[in-house]
Amino acid sequence: MERKKINSPAFFIGKGQGDDLISFGSGQPDLPPPKEVFEALNNYQCFKYCLVQGSQKLRDALSTKYEDTTPEQFVITNGASEALDLVLRALYVKGGKVAIPRPYYYSYPHNVRLAHLEVVYYDLVDGKIDIENFKAQAEGCVAVIINSPSNPTGTVQNKETLKACQKFCEEKGVLVISDNVYKDLFYTDENYCVQGPNVITIDSFSKSYSMCGFRVGYLHSWDGDLVEKIVEMKSHTSMNTSIMSQEAAYAAATKVPQGFLDETLKIWRERRNTFYQGMLDLGLDVWNPEGAFYLFPKIKNPSKACNDLYYDYNIITYDGTWFGDDTRLRFSYALDVEKIEIGLKRLKEYLKTIED
Ligand SMILES: Cc1ncc(COP(=O)(O)O)c(C=O)c1O
Repeated sequence: MERKKINSPAFFIGKGQGDDLISFGSGQPDLPPPKEVFEALNNYQCFKYCLVQGSQKLRDALSTKYEDTTPEQFVITNGASEALDLVLRALYVKGGKVAIPRPYYYSYPHNVRLAHLEVVYYDLVDGKIDIENFKAQAEGCVAVIINSPSNPTGTVQNKETLKACQKFCEEKGVLVISDNVYKDLFYTDENYCVQGPNVITIDSFSKSYSMCGFRVGYLHSWDGDLVEKIVEMKSHTSMNTSIMSQEAAYAAATKVPQGFLDETLKIWRERRNTFYQGMLDLGLDVWNPEGAFYLFPKIKNPSKACNDLYYDYNIITYDGTWFGDDTRLRFSYALDVEKIEIGLKRLKEYLKTIED
């Protein structure tokens, strides 16, 4: 195979598990969506444009899930990805800054720059927010992004820290963009989602309901003018989010019992346990994920490791550099335990070649 240098996740996105390929790459659940989602599409027959803001019944359903909200405060988007993009572009002010965590979800700095805003970073310490550093970086920003459980660290921020971030931002007039796409996937006792008048909530059906390819997410804001601006922008770009996917998302939001999420969480937890223990056995320096489905071990020269593991060992991993950390490699464990074990064996062989 030609060894084309792998420079970004775009090289791997959409490549599934192959015959012999083990993909620890893309953060997409391999589990099927709930059966209610398929049933909703059996006799589906609507193919016209729909409201740019999103189908009324889906927004109605969402507003019942978030206390005191109204359907007008939601916009249905092409995944959380479009929600992030729209919000940031709508927030543009000349010279405006946005603080993001580092390590970060790889799209954040790009989203901020595409909105002509400046990126500043608050550095996580072993995956956790350092409140003083957070305050120093957030001061004077238009917005901050918070992501807990986090991609790529797999950490869950504790409630007190999140409340302190929220209070600080509220006092300073900084908007908080809370990226909650992993809110249902946590192994800790609780997972707090930031909330308050200055919070814009972003979420998605991709991870909780294994619906990545449907491309349905949403945003919620208390600021009616901001929502209006976002809908106006969306009307000139993607227009409505796929109407069929919104029907599927409506089924997920209204017909799928909590038991589905509980059962899938059990599967994620088992995978996490196997993979984390396997990495410890290989002597890797890694913290035990508290949420989402990523392990983020230290590794020598992650860019080279990402290339060599793919071309020589048939394993997809993501270079930590893409997430703002050039000492680590990201492994998604969205694959079954058998494959995780095969991947660990190959990783062991690779690690032998880079031992001092
Ligand atoms: C932290 C985070 N935010 C947003 C997204 C985008 O998700 P969606 O599929 O809803 O666009 C991802 C996808 O991996 C993610 O990890």
